[in-house]
Amino acid sequence: MKEKCFVMIKPGFLNYENEIVERLNKIGTITKRFQIKLTDEILNKHYEEHIGKPFFAELVNYMKSDEVVGFEVEGEEGLVKNIRECVGATKNPAPGTIRHDFGIGDVTKNVIHASDSPENGIKECQRMFDYVEMLNK
Ligand code: RTP
Ligand code: MG
Repeated sequence: MKEKCFVMIKPGFLNYENEIVERLNKIGTITKRFQIKLTDEILNKHYEEHIGKPFFAELVNYMKSDEVVGFEVEGEEGLVKNIRECVGATKNPAPGTIRHDFGIGDVTKNVIHASDSPENGIKECQRMFDYVEMLNK
């Protein structure tokens, strides 16, 4: 089964886009891209599972502070798992991962987002690219 993963370069790290794309291209195929500043409304949907957690406000404030770059990545079974491995852990990411290699040791400002399951990959790509299309109409 083919999989999709939504990947997003977070504010302040867009200068690493080429390096990040190079790593993603080894895992899957980038089929869509946008560059935009996100709003509270879309971030509340994207991070719905974290509403009420102590880090939620800081996370949303950071994510809307500047432009992000979003990608739809497509690939074979295992794509989402492979991208998550390449991204690295939320806390203390290992050397060789994107979060380690381009990060600044900050749990919130951790370079990149990637969907955490094939189901969420489909959902997040749909939601985010529908949103961007709607804005461009
Ligand atoms: P992401 O969704 O961005 O790919 O990150 P993730 O799956 O590794 O981590 P998740 O638990 O989904 O958390 C989403 C984002 O919230 C921030 N965070 N801060 N201060 C904290 O304890 C904390 N925990 C999470 C990070 O920016 C994380 O990527
Ligand atoms: Mg997550």
